[in-house]
Amino acid sequence: MSSNKNPRSIILTGDRTTGALHLGHYVGSLRNRVALQHQHDQYVLLADSQALTDNAHDPKKIHRYVVEVALDYLAVGIDPAISTICVQSALPALAELTVLYLNFVTVARLERNPTIKDEIQARGFGRDIPAGFLCYPASQAADITAFKATLVPVGDDQAPIIEQTNEIVRRLNRQTGKALLPEARALIPAIGRLPGVDGKAKMSKSQGDAIPLTASDAEIEAAVRRMYTDPNHLRASDPGQVEGNVVFLYLDAFDDDRDEIASLKERYRQGGVGDMVLKHRLAFVLKTILAPIRERRALLARDRNFVMDILQTGSRKAREITENTKKELLEALGIFRIELGP
Ligand code: TRP
Repeated sequence: MSSNKNPRSIILTGDRTTGALHLGHYVGSLRNRVALQHQHDQYVLLADSQALTDNAHDPKKIHRYVVEVALDYLAVGIDPAISTICVQSALPALAELTVLYLNFVTVARLERNPTIKDEIQARGFGRDIPAGFLCYPASQAADITAFKATLVPVGDDQAPIIEQTNEIVRRLNRQTGKALLPEARALIPAIGRLPGVDGKAKMSKSQGDAIPLTASDAEIEAAVRRMYTDPNHLRASDPGQVEGNVVFLYLDAFDDDRDEIASLKERYRQGGVGDMVLKHRLAFVLKTILAPIRERRALLARDRNFVMDILQTGSRKAREITENTKKELLEALGIFRIELGP
C-alpha cells in the first residue's frame, strides 16, 4: 500500500564480489534489504567490475564470487521475485556513465574522500594506487544514478561515497539544466559497524576475524569462544565492563530480547555474570539465525543453473533501465548522438 507516509523508493545497493558475505554484512545491510524489498523497487548489484579495482591480479576469484555472493543473497531471503539481482559487468551503460562522470569530479576530491583514504591505508597501496580504485566513487555514482535510486542501504563506511555521488548528481543536473538524476540517501543501520571477533576493527572479508554466513555450528562456537570481552573481568563475581565488550556488541546486534540483554548488562557491571554465560547465549542466538541460511544456501548451491537464470533475468531487466538513463543523460547533455544504424 503506498501512501504519502511511505512512498515507494527505488533502492540500489550491492557488494563487491571479493569474498563470502559475513555477519557484518548481515547486520550492515542484508537484513535491511530483506525487509525493504516488500515496500520498494529494489535492485541489488553484484559489483564485479568494482571488485577488480583492488583485485586486478585475480579476476577468476571475482568471477567465482559472483555466484557465491548471489547464493548468499538468496539464502538470507532476498527474493528474486520482488528484488532484481544483477551483475555489474553485464551492464555496459554503467561503465560508460563512469567514464562520463569522471569529467565531473576532480582527482583532489577523490583523494579527499574519507572512505577512499581509509581503504588506501588498509590495503597498503602506498603510492601504487590503481587509478580504477581511486575513481571507484565515480563508478558507484554511475551504479546508483543509472537506476535513479533514491535510497542506498549500506554500512556507515560507504556514506562518503553517497555524498560524492550526490555532488556528481548536482553537477550533472546543473549542466543539463534538468533534474534528470535524483539525489540518493544512504540508509545506515543504527547498530553501526560490527567489530571482528578480536574487537580490533570492523569485521572484514580478508582479515580472518569474520564469521561467514556459511559458518557451521562448530565454527560459530569457536569464533564466539575467541571473542574479546573485558580483560579485567577474571572471575564471574568481578564487576565487568560492557562498553567495548565484543560479546555485548554482538548481543545488541542479534539478540531480540532487549529486556533480558539490559538486565544482563546491569548484572555484568555489578559482578556476578561470567563470560561463559554471555558467550553461551550469543552462540545460541547466532546458530539459530545462521542454521536456516546455511541450509537454504546448501540447497540452492546444488542448482547453479537456477542461480544463473536469476542473474540473467535480473541483468536483462537492469540493462534496459541503465541503457535508458544513459541515453536520456547523453541526450540532455547534447553529446554522442551520431546514429550508426545496424
Ligand atoms: N562499494 C560497495 C562495497 O564495497 C559495493 C557497491 C558497488 C555498492 N556499487 C554499489 C553499494 C552501489 C551501494 C550502491 O560494498
